[in-house]
Amino acid sequence: MNFTPLLVFLHVSGVVVWVGGMFFAYTCLRPAAVDVLEPPFRLKLWKRVFDRFFPLVGVAVAFILVSGVVMLARAGFAQAPLHWHVMFALGLVMTAVYAGIVAVPFRLLGEAVAASNWPAGGNALGSIRKLVGFNLIVGFVTIAVATLGRWL
Ligand code: HEM
Repeated sequence: MNFTPLLVFLHVSGVVVWVGGMFFAYTCLRPAAVDVLEPPFRLKLWKRVFDRFFPLVGVAVAFILVSGVVMLARAGFAQAPLHWHVMFALGLVMTAVYAGIVAVPFRLLGEAVAASNWPAGGNALGSIRKLVGFNLIVGFVTIAVATLGRWL
């Protein structure tokens, strides 16, 4: 039995949750929250949004990495096309940035919100925004590599 379609399904589902979630947060939720919420409410909202989103991203990353590496290994690392290796490298960069967000600015955001320290919370949220924006761009580049790479 050929399990590749199932692996691609799990892989792409993880990508949809991760990159789609970042796209929604960055392009829709952020400007709307800036428009209508004062800093204390906005920071509390983002804390609760990320409390839900980041664990889901953790699951999505696990699906993406495991399915991706299994597909690579089945094809043989040496025989795999170049764009698969590029996808692997970009995926590892995205994963490292995600882990960094959770380990530092997201933790600082939680501490600032708990202490009602809104300037510190704003700084932490600003760092998260920059890093999520970076991962969003790398995510789209990776999708382009994954799909358009077939032309190479
Ligand atoms: C981190 C390690 C990763 C590995 C080892 C990996 C590996 C793979 C492999 C082997 C395929 C099958 C390609 C094919 O059948 O042509 C694939 C498909 C795909 N990957 Fe990845 N990938 C990784 C991360 C990512 C990330 C982070 C994204 C997007 C943000 C991504 C997006 C895609 C997409 C959209 C496809 C479907 C391509 C198609 O069927 O045309 N991958 N990946």
